[in-house]
Amino acid sequence: MASRRKPNKPILTIPSCATVNERSPTPSPPPNQESSMDSFVRQLKEAVEEAEITSDQRARMNEFFNQKALLGSEMSDEDFEKIHELGAGNGGVVSKVRHLKSGIIMARKLIRLEIKPTIRYRIMQELTVLHKCNSPYIVGFYGTFFSPTVGEISLCMEYMDGGSLDLILKKVGRIPEPILGKITVAVLEGLKYLRYQQQVLHRDVKPSNLLVNTRGEIKMCDFGVSGELINSKANTFVGTRSYMSPERLLGTRYNIRSDIWSLGLSLIEMAIGQYPIPPPDPATLRENKDKTLTAGDTAVEDNADPRPPMAIFELLNYIVNENPPSLPADDCFSEPFRDFVSKCLIKDPQSRSDIADLEAHEFYIISRNSDVDMAEFVKGTINSNCQ
Ligand SMILES: Nc1ncnc2c1ncn2[C@@H]1O[C@H](COP(=O)(O)OP(=O)(O)OP(=O)(O)O)[C@@H](O)[C@H]1O
Ligand SMILES: [Mg+2]
Repeated sequence: MASRRKPNKPILTIPSCATVNERSPTPSPPPNQESSMDSFVRQLKEAVEEAEITSDQRARMNEFFNQKALLGSEMSDEDFEKIHELGAGNGGVVSKVRHLKSGIIMARKLIRLEIKPTIRYRIMQELTVLHKCNSPYIVGFYGTFFSPTVGEISLCMEYMDGGSLDLILKKVGRIPEPILGKITVAVLEGLKYLRYQQQVLHRDVKPSNLLVNTRGEIKMCDFGVSGELINSKANTFVGTRSYMSPERLLGTRYNIRSDIWSLGLSLIEMAIGQYPIPPPDPATLRENKDKTLTAGDTAVEDNADPRPPMAIFELLNYIVNENPPSLPADDCFSEPFRDFVSKCLIKDPQSRSDIADLEAHEFYIISRNSDVDMAEFVKGTINSNCQ
């Protein structure tokens, strides 16, 4: 099985210019930074030669590595010009920025955490592992640095011009099943890469962490590469929805099937246009369906559930103790899609499908072979008369 194959893991040495000096607040440049970054980029290209990806994907990744080579050593606040804000989440703001010297457009995430400097250094050290994460299904990483004046960690990543799927969902109302099929294939490829090549779980699969671009690429971001960052963020959760599996909420051991639960929940949300816990009433679902955007229409105003949101404890309690959400039967979803989602959302993690089971599923096979044009879909959402 593809997901069980022995990882063919390249041994990459992160250049010293991309690591953080524990004793000093700024990363220290290597004595010979040019050759250090160049040889790193060469290693990255060699690793990509070995990867099982298409020639198009390889070309795009090499293009990204060439850009990365232009950045040189350390980055700081003064190197960037802000273009505009892209969005904000729990403890972070993401902006579209231009790197002045190279002209590269990036997404820069500012992470504000009330933490001790030692923890901060450890987070930054752990984040440099992102230099090794190179997959067509994972958002590219340029680097990280700390701004002492504002007290924030910056994480610079590839800018995805189609944005995240939560924003697209707000614009289009519902995402069509064939598009969700392509998203499913990309997410499973990304999860497989993280698990088998990088030995990490994602831990935060949800529509806002799934990004798309006008080339039709679908990539994941914000995965759990830094244990310290996960711990530091654990106390900052302020939200009204959760994508965490029941076993995670219960604090028991969890594995990749926990990410699969989050994928299943995200798929239902994107299919029906609404967070599916508690199950929306049929009238609201019909309304969402009628509002679904077709190319050129104006933005869907609001798909919000008219009911008041559940208190967070009530919601978590619901996820752990009630039936899992499912795709409504009386809708236009195919039987394979409904079945696929139900296999992701089995509450008992032992009985839930793993990646290999899902890759053998009819919905996955149909989706992998479908020639739906993701790039056209993304361009359509940008060109529609919505913000
Ligand atoms: N690389 C990127 N390219 C384009 N847009 C991005 C990129 N990264 C993030 N964004 C946008 O910035 C928004 C904010 O991201 P952020 O990760 O701070 O919050 P979130 O994912 O919505 O929530 P949370 O903090 O709970 O993870 C995202 O919803 C997305 O629309
Ligand atoms: Mg995010």
